[in-house]
Amino acid sequence: MAAKKVLELKPNPRTGRYRLISGNWKMNLNHLEAIQLVQKLYFGLRDVDYGFAEISIHPPATSLRPIQLLIESDRMHFSLGAQNCYFAPSGAYTGEVSAQMLSKLNVKYVIVGHSERRRIFGETDEVVALKTKAILAEQMTPILCVGETAEEREAGETDDVLMRQVRLAVADLSAEVVATIVVAYEPIWAIGTGLVATPEDATSGAQLIREELARLYGGDVAERVRIQYGGSVTPVTAHDLLEADGVDGLLVGGASLDAEAFSRIIRA
Ligand code: 13P
Repeated sequence: MAAKKVLELKPNPRTGRYRLISGNWKMNLNHLEAIQLVQKLYFGLRDVDYGFAEISIHPPATSLRPIQLLIESDRMHFSLGAQNCYFAPSGAYTGEVSAQMLSKLNVKYVIVGHSERRRIFGETDEVVALKTKAILAEQMTPILCVGETAEEREAGETDDVLMRQVRLAVADLSAEVVATIVVAYEPIWAIGTGLVATPEDATSGAQLIREELARLYGGDVAERVRIQYGGSVTPVTAHDLLEADGVDGLLVGGASLDAEAFSRIIRA
């Protein structure tokens, strides 16, 4: 085993919060390709690149075990993430994977309520809330995705949509627990479209989310929650989005499938 290097992750001096940059691979790469991509990313990063943000990698479920073994055996400074889970611990739910199963793989972050799951697989706010709870019960951190469609944005409904999605997802949780979650603001019109939100859009989304959390749980809790931006992030746009007020990290789709592009985003 390689000796573990001590790489210190520093919080953002402006906010005291630790940044998180996550790669959501969606349904891409078989487990052999997944191993290659993680190795390529690892060899492309220098020690200093780990000081700015924690990096989580969210491969498809078939790659979780091989990537877990790779990260642990080579002591890579990547956190393992999943893209989804089911809320029941076990049972007759053909095709599903439980939060318990993920936590046994040392998964740290689980994406929940991604717009593709809401739209394509019909996930409701209620299901998202149950999954969020199940993830937290296994001592993992949910990355709760919220975001408005282009139509909702044009109709001036962005505030309502974001507030509702946040409120319902955390409905049954204690303030202490809510403070530990990550929320990803992913405007749906910016996902996979090449239309990237401006840093001002990212800030205003993050602000709305934090205001709603403050209203529900108080300002202290809202200030501890980390908020990512996601939607067509590239190495070119990453820096300004990361520096946007209220933004604590990025949830990257397409660009995280390219080791070179993702490492440039991490260095941004
Ligand atoms: P893209 O970066 O490909 O637009 O995807 C964003 C996303 O959905 C991350 O979860």
